Amino acid sequence: MRQAVLLCALALLAGQAAAHCNYRLGIGETLSEIAKAYEIDLEDVIAANPQLGDPNVVMAGSIIRLPCKPQKRGNNLLDLLEHRNETAELVQAIYTAGMSDALEEIDSDATLFAPIDSAFDALLDKLNVNLTDLAANPKQLMDILQYHLVLGDSLRAQDIKEGETQVETALGKDITVVKKGKDVSIKLPNGDEAKVVTADLRGGQAVVHLIDLVLTPPAEEEQKPAEPAAAPAGAPGSGPCTYTIASGDTLAAIGIKFGTTVDAILKLNPSISDPNKIVAGSSINVRQC
Ligand SMILES: *[C@@H]1O[C@H](CO)[C@@H](O)[C@H](O)[C@H]1NC(C)=O
Ligand SMILES: *[C@@H]1O[C@H](CO)[C@@H](O)[C@H](O)[C@H]1NC(C)=O
Repeated sequence: MRQAVLLCALALLAGQAAAHCNYRLGIGETLSEIAKAYEIDLEDVIAANPQLGDPNVVMAGSIIRLPCKPQKRGNNLLDLLEHRNETAELVQAIYTAGMSDALEEIDSDATLFAPIDSAFDALLDKLNVNLTDLAANPKQLMDILQYHLVLGDSLRAQDIKEGETQVETALGKDITVVKKGKDVSIKLPNGDEAKVVTADLRGGQAVVHLIDLVLTPPAEEEQKPAEPAAAPAGAPGSGPCTYTIASGDTLAAIGIKFGTTVDAILKLNPSISDPNKIVAGSSINVRQC
């Protein structure tokens, strides 16, 4: 039975050989099986994945880089990132933070500023950690990822106004998008500037710009000592219980905003019969309280 499932999975893989750039290892899968299914040399797979350490001991859920032709379009945000050869670490971070379903579900306007692998490497170097360490704090990772996402607006490079524009991210904090002639960059409060290195990729209706720096959100403003802190901001499980749907909202976008998924929202709101028909002005549960 297990064998049959595996064979079936391999057959699927073989059918779309060389399509994936970033392949997520399933339970019990080995590098040699994947190399065989994609008709590439095991040595090449190992060489492309120095982050794995011992190639004989790979963990399910790890993202494996495979030779591929990078695509300019994907069916959704996650699909695009899985078919680019410079976003393996971002894909790993997205799965680790538990945001993969939410990014797959966004089928409306959105903009993602996607840090390339060298940007992640630089951040990990700076923090002196590895992706495994970051994985120990999925909430922090989720905050970082939300800070790269703009909901409700597909900002193509040509649509961005010359000069500086403040844009609100899914984290609720603004970033400054700077356009100088053809160059687009993101300026952060700490002076860091991330350059767009590849503009205007598409993931479904959303626009993706690859950037050369991970945007780290500014620290929370310090609590005034006189005000006793009710609940620590950003603590896991904190945040509002309900949300009033605004016009143009989709459940996927609401899921991202509150760090949850469409499935989870539907479970909390049995009254929603069609997830594509939500009514502006009505209130829904976004967290079990
Ligand atoms: C990605 O693919 C392009 C085009 O095939 C190639 O020029 C580039 O070197 C590749 N980048 C990486 C990181 O593999
Ligand atoms: C990541 O770093 C930790 C120590 O900070 C170490 O224990 C762990 O083995 C490292 N993981 C990888 C995949 O290198």
